[in-house]
Amino acid sequence: MAELRLANPLDLAAVRAQFPGLNQQVNGMPLAYLDNAATTQMPLAVQEAMRHFEQHDRANIHRGMHALSQRATDDFERARQALERFVGAGPGHELVFTSGTTDALNLVAGGLSSPGTVPAWIRPGDEIIVSGLEHHANLVPWQQAARRCGAVLRILLPDGQGRLHAEDLARLLTPRTRIFAVTACANATGERPPYEVLLALAADAGALTVLDAAQAVGHEVPQLSALACDLMAFSGHKMLGPMGIGALVGRREALDRLVPLRFGGDMVEWVGWDEARFNDLPSRLEGGTPNVGAAVGLAAAAAFIGEVGREAIDAHVRALRAKAAAGLAAIEGVTVLAPNSSASAIVSFAAAGVHPHDIGTLLDEQGIAVRTGHHCAQPLLDHLGLGSTTRASFALYNTFDEVERLRIGVERALKLLR
Ligand code: ALA
Repeated sequence: MAELRLANPLDLAAVRAQFPGLNQQVNGMPLAYLDNAATTQMPLAVQEAMRHFEQHDRANIHRGMHALSQRATDDFERARQALERFVGAGPGHELVFTSGTTDALNLVAGGLSSPGTVPAWIRPGDEIIVSGLEHHANLVPWQQAARRCGAVLRILLPDGQGRLHAEDLARLLTPRTRIFAVTACANATGERPPYEVLLALAADAGALTVLDAAQAVGHEVPQLSALACDLMAFSGHKMLGPMGIGALVGRREALDRLVPLRFGGDMVEWVGWDEARFNDLPSRLEGGTPNVGAAVGLAAAAAFIGEVGREAIDAHVRALRAKAAAGLAAIEGVTVLAPNSSASAIVSFAAAGVHPHDIGTLLDEQGIAVRTGHHCAQPLLDHLGLGSTTRASFALYNTFDEVERLRIGVERALKLLR
């Protein structure tokens, strides 16, 4: 494994040496990879951990008596423990591997609304509150759950600047509120809501609380034991890990309420012709062969983030975001969303009279990778009066020069397009 020696603040040359893919030309220009909210790059240390697993320990877990199966099982369970520590899980918590945040949130909404051996946890007439900042993955599963159970879906709408307010949540909470779901950072706008306060308020009112940590976990990792959070979801590929792996981590009593949605091997304790008895957590919710190599990679990504230093990463991406937001807002006709969101790595903007796809195309011609569109948050962007935006998002390896290239690139694009 390449040795990493890092100073605080970040030694960007040492960090970037871990990501050789960044060192390439796109359209004849050095790549500026600013699409990290969609997927981050993966350091050599993570690739090496996965390669080691695939070369030496690859076997199926939990079922074999042979050495490789035992090693794979140990690798998998060590990865689980490392990730539990990473998110500050305590003795009452459990971590279930999923294929990502979408899978985890579907497991929560589906698992609380599907009939099982006991009635679904969400009952007719119950109320589900979802914040208006959510990615479709933390909205559509709740729409389905409400429909399935005859529950009422209520949206905690943001104000005109895309901010959530505790007073608004207090007004929505009733004795029938069963669920409150919120994001730790809005992927479409970069708004970092006061989720600690919101979760606590909802928990006090008796709701089961759900946090989508996908956009926070790469820099500002929410610490579960400090939160009034029952269930939290995150993805590997947004925190320097592989695609196809993520986790649902939370209080054991909350996870015990979920009806399994995937039936098959490993999640059962006993099976007869007509019925089956399910295993305990976490196996009960992990039916089938898991992505063991990716779990190993995800744990290596958490270790990498720990080694570089979470606070240093967080300070760095916040500073990049602040510079980008200020630079873009100074361009005539450009509106930056969530302009005051200081704890975020995402800057999303709209330019009057210009389609974001055209800006994205012209930035790509300059080697700058950003994302354009509705960012899987259509109702939110409609609510803010915007169809789609251009979004730049930062990771630990991005530089202030890249932010400056973004500003200049947007200025150039707007000159051409207007
Ligand atoms: N959820 C990812 C994003 O926000 C794909 O871009």
